[in-house]
Amino acid sequence: MAEHWIENHKRDAWRRQAKASGYRARSAFKLKQIQDRFGLIREGDLVLDVGCHPGGWAQVAVELVGEEGHVVGVDLQPCQPVEGAVLLTGDITEPVTQERILAELGGERLNVIVSDISPDITGKWDMDQSVAMTLVADVFDFALPLLRKGGSFTTKLFQGVGVEELIEAVRPQFSNVRRFSPDASRNSSSEVYLVCRNHTPWKRPKQSVRERYDAAMDALLGGHELEADVELRTSTFSVRRKKSSDE
Ligand SMILES: C[S@@+](CC[C@H](N)C(=O)[O-])C[C@H]1O[C@@H](n2cnc3c(N)ncnc32)[C@H](O)[C@@H]1O
Repeated sequence: MAEHWIENHKRDAWRRQAKASGYRARSAFKLKQIQDRFGLIREGDLVLDVGCHPGGWAQVAVELVGEEGHVVGVDLQPCQPVEGAVLLTGDITEPVTQERILAELGGERLNVIVSDISPDITGKWDMDQSVAMTLVADVFDFALPLLRKGGSFTTKLFQGVGVEELIEAVRPQFSNVRRFSPDASRNSSSEVYLVCRNHTPWKRPKQSVRERYDAAMDALLGGHELEADVELRTSTFSVRRKKSSDE
């Protein structure tokens, strides 16, 4: 109970700070803390913000890229405009949305991809986590070919079964892959950010990230027929209910 109270208190503190700083969501501080640690976004960069609603990360990204840079965001939900960013509405896994993103980029390659994407929570935590993982794999497959050599890709993950497999599926395409928990999300949920730096496109395996991930999960879980006594390889966190309306 006390732990729950402390979590809520911390979350409220970040929310108040976001409001006072003019950010739309406390999640803005997560990107700021990722940036403080890794320095991913530079002035003049072209940035793709995946799952951008309500626009907290887009606000931070626009500040960082400055007037010479450009931020393109996409979300299922429409966002209020953020000056200096183009925020598209649509499902990033749908070809029609992907075409719009490509049109917005106009053939330019991205320096940075940041993704805070999270699918709707059903309450069945194992299933939610599994859906989130495959969504992240699909985002990698769509967006990686748009990323410059040397570019970075940061994505939220929910800890649980399959995290190690996803990391291994993307690892060949970056020279540095790290997990990071910003203070702004610590204690509040099972989320962690995967920070992949220095894109090495020439090392891309023949199979897609999703194919590699699915194959690893099949091997882990014994194909489609999950045996009752299979021991799942889980990470250190469990999946807990996350999300409040301003995340
Ligand atoms: C935690 S919120 C992002 C918060 C955002 N980073 C900010 O700072 O304002 C996650 C978002 O992912 C979006 N999302 C989930 N599935 C999506 C999909 N298939 N395509 C695009 N956006 C998606 C949700 O609509 C939700 O707004």
